[in-house]
Amino acid sequence: MKKSIISLMGTLAMMLLASCGSPSTGSWVSYSGDRQVERRVDSVLQLMTLEEKIGQMTQFSANWSITGPVMSDDFKPYLEKGLIGSIFNATSVEGIRRMQQIAVDSTRLGIPILFGQDVIHGYKTIFPIPLAEACSWDLEMMRRTAEIAAIEAASDGINWTFAPMVDIGRDARWGRVMEGAGEDPYLGSRVAEARVAGFQGGVDGKALVEVHTLLATGKHLAAYGAAEAGRDYHTAELSEHTLRNVYLPPYEAAAKAGVGTFMASFNEINGVPATGDRWLMTDILRGEWGFRGFVVSDYTGVNELVPHGFAEDEQHAAELAVHAGIDMDMTGATFIKNLTQSVEEGKVPEQTIDNAARRILEMKFLLGLFDDPYRYLNEERARKNSMTPEFMETARKAVAASVVLLKNEDNLLPIPKETEATLALVGPLMNDSINLNGEWAGLGDRNKSVPILKGLTEKYKDSAVKLIYAEGSSIDETTPARIAEAVSAARRADIVVAAVGESYHWSGEAAVRTDIRLPEAQRQLLGALKETGKPIVLVNLSGRPLDLSREEEEMDAILQAWFPGTQGGHGIADVIAGDYNPSARLVMSFPRNVGQLPIYYNRKNTGRPVDLNDERVDYKSNYLDSSITPLYPFGYGLSYTTYVISDLALDKSSMKAVDDRITVTATVQNSGEREGEMVVQLYVRDLVGSVTRPVKELKGFQKIALKAGESRQVTFELRAEDLAFYGIDMKKKTEPGNFTLWVAQSSDDNGNEATFSIE
Ligand code: BGC
Repeated sequence: MKKSIISLMGTLAMMLLASCGSPSTGSWVSYSGDRQVERRVDSVLQLMTLEEKIGQMTQFSANWSITGPVMSDDFKPYLEKGLIGSIFNATSVEGIRRMQQIAVDSTRLGIPILFGQDVIHGYKTIFPIPLAEACSWDLEMMRRTAEIAAIEAASDGINWTFAPMVDIGRDARWGRVMEGAGEDPYLGSRVAEARVAGFQGGVDGKALVEVHTLLATGKHLAAYGAAEAGRDYHTAELSEHTLRNVYLPPYEAAAKAGVGTFMASFNEINGVPATGDRWLMTDILRGEWGFRGFVVSDYTGVNELVPHGFAEDEQHAAELAVHAGIDMDMTGATFIKNLTQSVEEGKVPEQTIDNAARRILEMKFLLGLFDDPYRYLNEERARKNSMTPEFMETARKAVAASVVLLKNEDNLLPIPKETEATLALVGPLMNDSINLNGEWAGLGDRNKSVPILKGLTEKYKDSAVKLIYAEGSSIDETTPARIAEAVSAARRADIVVAAVGESYHWSGEAAVRTDIRLPEAQRQLLGALKETGKPIVLVNLSGRPLDLSREEEEMDAILQAWFPGTQGGHGIADVIAGDYNPSARLVMSFPRNVGQLPIYYNRKNTGRPVDLNDERVDYKSNYLDSSITPLYPFGYGLSYTTYVISDLALDKSSMKAVDDRITVTATVQNSGEREGEMVVQLYVRDLVGSVTRPVKELKGFQKIALKAGESRQVTFELRAEDLAFYGIDMKKKTEPGNFTLWVAQSSDDNGNEATFSIE
């Protein structure tokens, strides 16, 4: 397309201004102080019409169809007029290049497009789902897997990922718990920081924009996981007390780690949909946390203010959203269709539009897109950086580090290669590759994922262990004949290994279950196998904690393998054969039944706490038909070795409420016969507060490796500020009083306890 002289001059002027200074040294954290970037953005803004600025605030989806028709018609006209800021779900490199070409060469100002994608747990190399990875408690590993995802994606033209999802998950019915780091605000915050650093590059929150990094998104602000009854998009009704003390910390941690963007959540909180919530999106996010990046709505989140009953029509919705602090409208087109009129009618100050467009342009500068709009498109880099042996190795280790050993009666596991035994390999997920990647793995080739059967076959090749296979059941269907086949295999074997669980579609967005047991067909299969009397190792694959009460009773060993990704079969085989000693610890409580949900370890005590050793007492906070404790608690996980914690000591028994710290030490011993890694957990209870305090709160952890028999002292620095919370006056501070502290192997381990006070 030919450009007019005027547009060419405009573009040139802008490019000249835009290219002074190196964008690749900009820092997400400090760019707001970077006068040079500000000046360059100003120079562009000055050239822009109102409509072009609103265009920057507009994002469309390419609907994955970019390899077919070049692009869907609904956004093509906008693209050609320079009225699009960002496009997502464009998955072909060629398609991205062509769209960028139109934006740069054929529009009046030639402003490059930001290309987004849900790069959630890997791009081509798929890592275990985020909930699984969090169970490794290995922050460096999570940083690295996010970094690898960024390296792979940032060659295919993607420069923005809608991750990390940092929503606290306390309710296993909600399918999106798979995307987060579980139920704990402290661990969730550390994981948020690690993932932001991994995607955006740099360490310690000093993220530097490199060509192999992606702009990250803290999502979904806020409390999306507090949806009533776990139903997706549902109402969240929660006090400011719980919002601030439980749900907001991981978002705040992401903001402080320099995340470039936030995404608003779909839900309402206390009557106000997040997308229209100025208190959340501006007062807290920008005012309190100092966030300087931009905020994108969720998919049609602005339009949804109408059915929420918060806006009269889409124009009103757009006005409310932009006033709240939403800078970009994802797919809904409400901004581009309405805001020009709203400004002209005096309903939205032009300054509001300028601020939003400025924030978006700043990110484009920082990503280097003004210097080279194609810098993220590099076929050679993509070829070199896709599913490399090193990435595969990291993925395999990530699988092994994420598998939680929940039960291991009579040390049935591991089954080393020297074992003279026949294994009957059964279950719907034993020879499956399609489900392994889990949800949100759009670009991962499901056919390339290693089935467990393949992993075990390679592992035990030429060894004393013999394998026979019979599926026995699909995920939710079986027949007597199929069960009989599996039973016959079990009878001919010494040990049964059954890979069971959910279909990957059963978790993720809009994937909510009210019955979180294994499907009936699989329960029938397991029941029949149990009758053979053969010991059974259960490998459970799921995107959420399941109710495994019956399996806990009937199975001999249980491995929670989540959705493990590309290297699933190999990583799981490493654990089964004992080449990796399981070290993962749960980050979400496993309930005994769905009726216990929501369930989490950091609960309140109530005025009528029940004695956990004797729960059946009348008029106590208990259940008539269930324990109040989970089946497997937060922080829990077994190993092929055993550990003992002892010698808990505090360097002093009291500290000041400000600028003070207590040094906590304890000895951790590997008391078993094989090397292993242990997650040492520090919990605290604040006995009395201006508002009630949880019965336990995680305040620190360390993952340490110990040889058989080895002992090591671990040290935690507990700072007074680590104990701060939002009290009765809704101010965050550390209140004086008495505390109990535990150094523990799990949230229900009370073996090493000490007390201290705050003056
Ligand atoms: C999800 C977001 C996601 C977006 C784009 C929405 O439906 O809630 O998490 O980033 O779609 O795919």
